[in-house]
Amino acid sequence: MNVTKITLLYYSATGNTEKVVSAIGQKMAECLQVPCEKADITLPGNRLAALEFQKGDLVIAGMPVYAGRVPNKILPYLQEKIEGNGAAAIPVVTFGNRSYDNGLKELQHELELHGFHTFAAAAVPAEHAFTDQLAKGRPASADINRIRKFAKHAADMVKLLPENITVQVKVAGEYPAPYYTPLGTDGQPAVFLKAKPLTDPKKCDGCGICVKVCPMGSISEENPAEVRGICIKCQACVKKCPRGAKYFADPAFLSHVAMLEQNYKRRAEAEFFV
Ligand SMILES: Cc1cc2nc3c(=O)[nH]c(=O)nc-3n(C[C@H](O)[C@H](O)[C@H](O)COP(=O)(O)O)c2cc1C
Repeated sequence: MNVTKITLLYYSATGNTEKVVSAIGQKMAECLQVPCEKADITLPGNRLAALEFQKGDLVIAGMPVYAGRVPNKILPYLQEKIEGNGAAAIPVVTFGNRSYDNGLKELQHELELHGFHTFAAAAVPAEHAFTDQLAKGRPASADINRIRKFAKHAADMVKLLPENITVQVKVAGEYPAPYYTPLGTDGQPAVFLKAKPLTDPKKCDGCGICVKVCPMGSISEENPAEVRGICIKCQACVKKCPRGAKYFADPAFLSHVAMLEQNYKRRAEAEFFV
């Protein structure tokens, strides 16, 4: 197949997924000698317009795994606004060292359903948005080296594919599948759906960065301490606040984080599918 352009299509609230798809895209663009552009759908303003692709396009589609699946507030955009029209695609998920469960399979399913042909895929562990005690600092250089090897292999493969691709890569996971139920340290479901970030008034200087980085557009411009809309617990405001003013104090949320720290510190490895 003759690839003419690579597009990195991704949602990445805390930057891990962007790093991973960029590493894949850069290497593939170098191997295939084609341009690589970004379609970053993290912010709500970037999810308004529809995106149409065509044959000759290669889309590297990246999502973090939330509760074992594709983030449920981003899924409708994939379902309603994106059409592959025969483009090739590589579904990629990042996950915070616990498990990617059925997230990669779901992403592949949605891409195939909307006109993409998925011939390779990857699930990559990355620092957990909830705590730096899981996969701290990853993807690190050893991960990036493996990712680049995969990208080289995928570039060699795509050249050998026919113009009318029929293959579909086999990936781990089930579709359909339920969401993962977060547990607390007591082994019981930790219900923190309504938890929202708090703001330390001594640290917040009202700069408004949190307002701009919230993927749901939920933080009030007039008063950044107020979360008016829904909170998906993505941690963008917590991680991107230059003064460390945002934090979560919800007991069920903190219990889930403690449970993760107790049980999921072992090293998870990336999985590549071709
Ligand atoms: C709401 C939420 C749910 C998550 N659920 C999972 C999960 O089920 N399994 C897992 O291993 N990591 C989970 N994570 C961790 C993220 O998948 C991981 O940190 C990811 O790399 C974040 O991507 P980003 O930096 O591109 O936003 C979750 C993170 C958030 C914010």
